[in-house]
Amino acid sequence: MEIYKGLASPMLDRLDSETSHVIVREALHFAETFPGGLKIIEQFAYKRKRFLDPKLRVQVCGIEFDNPLVMGAGWDKEGRAVKGLWRLGVAGVEAGGVPEYPQEGNPRPRQFVVAPGVIIQRLGFNSSGMNKVARNLSRYERCGIPIGIQVTENRDVASSDTPEDHAKACVAVTQKMYHIASWFTLGLSSPNTPGMRRLQGKRWLAPIVSAVFGAMEDMGGRKPLFVKIAPDLTWEELDEVIEVASAYRAGIVASNTTTNPDIKAKYGERWRYERGGLSGDDSDFRAMSTRQIAYICRATGNGLPVMGAGGIKDTPTALEKIMAGALPLQIVSAIRGEGLTVFGRINRGIVEFMDREGVKSLKELVGVEANIHSVA
Ligand SMILES: Cc1cc2nc3c(=O)[nH]c(=O)nc-3n(C[C@H](O)[C@H](O)[C@H](O)COP(=O)(O)O)c2cc1C
Repeated sequence: MEIYKGLASPMLDRLDSETSHVIVREALHFAETFPGGLKIIEQFAYKRKRFLDPKLRVQVCGIEFDNPLVMGAGWDKEGRAVKGLWRLGVAGVEAGGVPEYPQEGNPRPRQFVVAPGVIIQRLGFNSSGMNKVARNLSRYERCGIPIGIQVTENRDVASSDTPEDHAKACVAVTQKMYHIASWFTLGLSSPNTPGMRRLQGKRWLAPIVSAVFGAMEDMGGRKPLFVKIAPDLTWEELDEVIEVASAYRAGIVASNTTTNPDIKAKYGERWRYERGGLSGDDSDFRAMSTRQIAYICRATGNGLPVMGAGGIKDTPTALEKIMAGALPLQIVSAIRGEGLTVFGRINRGIVEFMDREGVKSLKELVGVEANIHSVA
């Protein structure tokens, strides 16, 4: 029996969703801190061993990932469980979102499991701020695990009207985390900070991206930068993000959680107008992010690096995102719905698929089905 799904998960299901998430994260953190702890964590991985196969290696923007799965932003906001997550099978971790200063986020309860593997949350970037997160992550320097930093803004900055204020806040976090980050992501697409999603518009985004790249150049050179987008963008709004990303040679993470009321209401009318974004195992949500990835791939001739996120829970849903045009992939909600073995199981399935189809490298698959995902 899978230890986590069989024993731990039913107990965690009785708790508030955020509480159970924090318990699992802190258990990984605790295990990391004593000798032999990482070996114990590995017992919870698929087949009790970190799954590895050289075929799974991918290089994206110069970053070497030993498999295509990355822990997406929001699961390890504080950067406390990077090695533990790696032992469970991810190739890297996107820590954060990290704002400049500590902030509480929205009042609790603010994270809800509305169906198995489907989450609605409105955390609102609860964080102990960049200084503390940098200290947490300093434990992982030189450990060789690719760490992404999701840069975000404090709530008061997000409501500001001047692009300079936004650029300043993002630059501060970029500078503080520069030495730790293998890549940066601009986390400005959260529905849970008032006014934030408008920052995906060209007028705001271009000066922010330009300032963040400028800060990196001052610190020693550019590192890869991704812009994370909301799945609810119109195609015209997505065009603006593509234009900015192409102009500055940034990548895109597609996508964040959806605020679509009809999708939320599938889990009961009471969720329709409940504040927060939905993620995880919902077919409509999954299709939204897959369509965005395919659109970006078509619009740029597969020319922009895209990380795929949204409802990935098994090998077919992972392959769907890769074939739409994304690599690597980010996973968040499935760790709750599918358990801690999810990474190894997906990777194992991908290797089986590659063997069956004679695929030598994952890069061969990127975007091969971009044309079949319509914009409708
Ligand atoms: C508990 C939770 C916290 C999240 N926090 C963040 C965050 O801080 N920044 C962000 O850009 N996205 C955040 N997200 C969105 C995820 O990174 C991801 O884009 C989204 O959940 C879709 O992936 P999934 O279906 O695998 O969960 C969060 C999601 C969840 C469930």
